[in-house]
Amino acid sequence: MKLWAGRFSKDVDPKTNDFNSSIATDQRMYAQDINGSIAHATMLAAKGIISAEDGVAITTALAEIKAEIAAGTLQIDPNAEDIHTFIEQTLTARIGDTGKRLHTGRSRNDQVAVDIRLYLREECGATLALVRQLIDALDAKGAAYADAIMPGYTHLQRAQPITFKAHLAAYTEMLKRDLGRIEDAQTRMNISPLGSGALAGTTYPIDRAMTAELLGFDGFTASTLDGVADRDFCLELAAALSILMVHLSRLCEEIILWCSWEFKFVELDDAFSTGSSIMPQKKNPDIAELVRGKSGRVFGDLMGLLTAMKGLPLAYNKDMQEDKDAIFDAFDTAKICLTTLVPMIETMKALPENMRKAAAGGFINATDCADYLVSKGLPFRDAYKATGELVALCIRTGQTLETLPLADYQSVCDKFDAGVYDAIKLETCVRRRGM
Ligand code: ARG
Repeated sequence: MKLWAGRFSKDVDPKTNDFNSSIATDQRMYAQDINGSIAHATMLAAKGIISAEDGVAITTALAEIKAEIAAGTLQIDPNAEDIHTFIEQTLTARIGDTGKRLHTGRSRNDQVAVDIRLYLREECGATLALVRQLIDALDAKGAAYADAIMPGYTHLQRAQPITFKAHLAAYTEMLKRDLGRIEDAQTRMNISPLGSGALAGTTYPIDRAMTAELLGFDGFTASTLDGVADRDFCLELAAALSILMVHLSRLCEEIILWCSWEFKFVELDDAFSTGSSIMPQKKNPDIAELVRGKSGRVFGDLMGLLTAMKGLPLAYNKDMQEDKDAIFDAFDTAKICLTTLVPMIETMKALPENMRKAAAGGFINATDCADYLVSKGLPFRDAYKATGELVALCIRTGQTLETLPLADYQSVCDKFDAGVYDAIKLETCVRRRGM
């Protein structure tokens, strides 16, 4: 039975009914839907719009329904049109006509807008906690290998020596910005649309401030049309999660490279790696690859949301029912990626000897050699050129800047003395840069 049955002379075509139904997706908001209804009924009773006894009967029964769904003793009907319908009908089945008074001065349009905000508020909290855990895991990993020196790259070519710790610290900075973006969107989202009705508010003397406060909102929406038509918070959060996933994909890409025999800078724990069905020697960083791949899902969710919202006339349109699949998937994906990454990073072993070996090749200290000449009074461009000649000499004769005899240094520039060997030590290079 539909909430809107009165106007119609036929049931909806069965396949169309499935097409129209959103219960498979929105049932996960049952607790938020009930909390919103309890606040609404409490307000209706406080304002004398329903009687005090009806208010108590409704809120008591709603609390029972919520507890039973949570305990698994009340099954959500998969054939209901949506979670709002299921709960209202269950309520009415239990307390009769009183239950029918709950929807006074309310529409599913403001109801669903409240539910999503309440639900996403919790999702934000859970996601923020996971991002913080990842930041802690990266910080701890950097601290555990505080002396490890590795090549820093530009163009994936060895550029200048850095510490492993400094490399990881770049990721914690990205993640801190992600925290800020999510918190910012969360603050803007925390405004109650309840009382917007279908689009034009209501004629009942409702108290929007009261329901907003009961539900922990910071205020209520100024425009009732915008209250039901706004899904900016879904867009903002999907965008923030997309950027987060960009960061996770970059971190995972590096871990994948670092796990290769070409690098071997890290080794993942067996519990976070997988093997091959045919190649017995293989240990694959599948988890990192999956996180990298799943970033695409979240970008897709954002594009889907943007496209669904684009050009919609005011106020509510059923297109907006598509919002939940997309934003729920974006949160589910980001959370499962973070949940898996945290212990993967925590158990990841770094191999500082290999990092150092890579940092010792490729003339990564050439800039420091040039800087040394600058300290001897040479203009940087001349110092750069002299060092370039030294690098070419090393390549021709199969040497490194560390092993090149002082006489060869001096043949290129007479400002060199034995102090150059200390100046180009990897430890000196990273220390002098405050890495
Ligand atoms: N299932 C709907 C949604 O998610 C609830 C709102 C329905 N409102 C309506 N007028 N049909 O958007």
